[in-house]
Amino acid sequence: MDRLKRILIVDDEKLNQEVLEGMVESFGYQAEITRDGAEALTKLKWDIDLVLLDVMMPLLDGFEVARRIREDPDYRDLPIIMVTALTDRESRLRAVEVGVNDFITKPIDKTELKVRMASLLKMKEAQDAIKRHQMVLEETAQKRTLALRHALAEMAEAQRHIHAAHLDTIHRLALAAEYKDENTAGHLHRMSHYSALLAQALNLPSDEVELIGYASPMHDVGKIGIPDVILLKPGKLDPEEWEIMKQHTLIGGQILKNSSSPLLQAGEIIALSHHEKWDGSGYPQGLAGEKIPLWSRICAVADVFDALTSPRPYKRALSNEEAYDILLESRGTHLDPQIVDLFFANLDKVKEIQARYVEAPYENRNLKSIMLNFYFERWKITGSGGKL
Ligand SMILES: [Fe+2]
Ligand SMILES: [Fe+2]
Repeated sequence: MDRLKRILIVDDEKLNQEVLEGMVESFGYQAEITRDGAEALTKLKWDIDLVLLDVMMPLLDGFEVARRIREDPDYRDLPIIMVTALTDRESRLRAVEVGVNDFITKPIDKTELKVRMASLLKMKEAQDAIKRHQMVLEETAQKRTLALRHALAEMAEAQRHIHAAHLDTIHRLALAAEYKDENTAGHLHRMSHYSALLAQALNLPSDEVELIGYASPMHDVGKIGIPDVILLKPGKLDPEEWEIMKQHTLIGGQILKNSSSPLLQAGEIIALSHHEKWDGSGYPQGLAGEKIPLWSRICAVADVFDALTSPRPYKRALSNEEAYDILLESRGTHLDPQIVDLFFANLDKVKEIQARYVEAPYENRNLKSIMLNFYFERWKITGSGGKL
């Protein structure tokens, strides 16, 4: 049930207080009485709906009380009826100026007071309803904005997860292929960083640099399709085996082809042409010079350098200096001369990458050597000479 309207009567004369109180209560309102202005200001906090304000009071007069009420933003719309014996135009103007809503002249006409109070209370009720409505609207808008912000953050987070999962999948795909090979996870990391470094040195846009960094570890993904007897053969491959080995470029291309992912598309290009040589003597297509995709020319330099400086079951790791000599010899024959030059121009960074991804005791290395031994033993037992 709605509470009774609360009317604050501010008058210093007892008789006036009683008259007003009687009238207010007869209208069905609740009366609060105060005899001075200062007290009236403190009583506003009691959820007052309307003020009946006397003019002539000691200390603060009615004008000053009205002015102070209006100063407080909380009571800017609180109806004030001035109860006054003053009828002069100047006093009325002054009252309007300080924010009084209406006047009632003493002696008070009960009906007139009732009508004026009712009309002002109704107005206040409407204003309160609007304020409440506005507050609800603001609250709803705030809640929705928050919910929207939350949803956007969740979406961004989900996208980050998907992107990370995408990269992770690609890395594991490359790792799966390397797992069968003599290469290691370290090779993939160094290869990725050398390739990105060279792409950057070529002034490629940053998103392309990133793309090459992520796509380059897929270069040998096709090795997954090469029979282990060839892939793991300890000695030199015969020409027939070598032809099969070369197929890893085409198999890699097949595995990665027709993807909608730009990363896998880049991987396809790199897998297909990372063994092409600048002078056209490479495979599978025998492309030469700039006919070889740039990304593959970049990866070739990175791959050759890392293969030379990494140990293999059948060879020791070359020193950097030995590898530099071979790179210089390959400049313009196997490798793109410009990219080889950029490699040498960035040796400090190359060495940083090499030191950062130094071959740590590789957790899968034991398992890998068990696999290798398993195959070697089997070759010996069956005498198949690697033709399992
Ligand atoms: Fe390869
Ligand atoms: Fe490689």
